[in-house]
Amino acid sequence: MKHLISISDLDRDGIEEILDLADRLKSERYKGMVSEYLKNKSLAMIFELPSTRTRVSFEVAMSDMGGHALYLGWKDLQLGRGEPIKDTARVLSRYVHAVMIRARNHRTIEEFAEYSTIPVINGLSNLEHPCQILADLMTIREYKGTLSKIKLAWVGDGNNVCNSLILASSILGIKMVYSTPPGYEPDTNIVEKAKSLGGDITYIREPEEAVNEADVIYTDVWTSMGQEEEREKRLKVFSEYQVNMRLLEGANEDVIVLHCLPAHRGEEITDEVIESSNSVIYDQSENRLHAQKAILLKLIGEVE
Ligand code: CP
Ligand code: NVA
Repeated sequence: MKHLISISDLDRDGIEEILDLADRLKSERYKGMVSEYLKNKSLAMIFELPSTRTRVSFEVAMSDMGGHALYLGWKDLQLGRGEPIKDTARVLSRYVHAVMIRARNHRTIEEFAEYSTIPVINGLSNLEHPCQILADLMTIREYKGTLSKIKLAWVGDGNNVCNSLILASSILGIKMVYSTPPGYEPDTNIVEKAKSLGGDITYIREPEEAVNEADVIYTDVWTSMGQEEEREKRLKVFSEYQVNMRLLEGANEDVIVLHCLPAHRGEEITDEVIESSNSVIYDQSENRLHAQKAILLKLIGEVE
């Protein structure tokens, strides 16, 4: 793997290697072990959109492993005054060892990678969120002991997180059902690609039907970053797609609930579900840190 721009930059073995490494790094952190796996390595983090988890987990991941991370807000860079992406990519390639970018348009990250001589990591785009999905898979494996024979139900917007989950499910053989309002389905090209990979991916319009026998229910905000002007319309369109206790009753008794956060309680998910014993949302959030470390080591580390 040269870059991590789409989760499909990884095959099954690549994903499993990252998850195994993330598990190991998690246990090393719990034991208080200190590493210098990324000593003298620097990561530039470019954010065109806000972030709590991605920013902090990448920064702590670098410092935990003896490296250094630089937070670069889009508007504080010359990028914000129109410097071309290709020049920024070429210049940063001379200073740091990897770049993580959160961008409005997926194309921005692809273009950056075309001119970069160092690894580029997608820290979320309108199309995908691969780093999130690695933490999600790690969490599912922790709770279910396996990634095979899992049924995952996505309820809500067919957004960036949903797109990456569809690809990952196809790569790993997870049975995935997505339930979205008509017109808010995941990206067509992604669904086609997933099917060409042999994925067991099904659209079911009714959330109640979609969660039947689900081991995992996953939801995310109805209005993603950059879609704020559609918020009022989306609140109406998505009203039947809330993850609440009544919906959970139709799933397996030991169903786990995932949400990448930030959440809007009372919209896509209720406070009761977030606080319930089915919710593993904060473990999922924590796992961003361990997964981030594994991604960085695979791209710029030398750990065995
Ligand atoms: N889940 C996630 O990517 O969160 P942030 O937007 O806070 O980084
Ligand atoms: N779908 C959300 C995810 C945030 C982490 C967004 O793009 O805003």
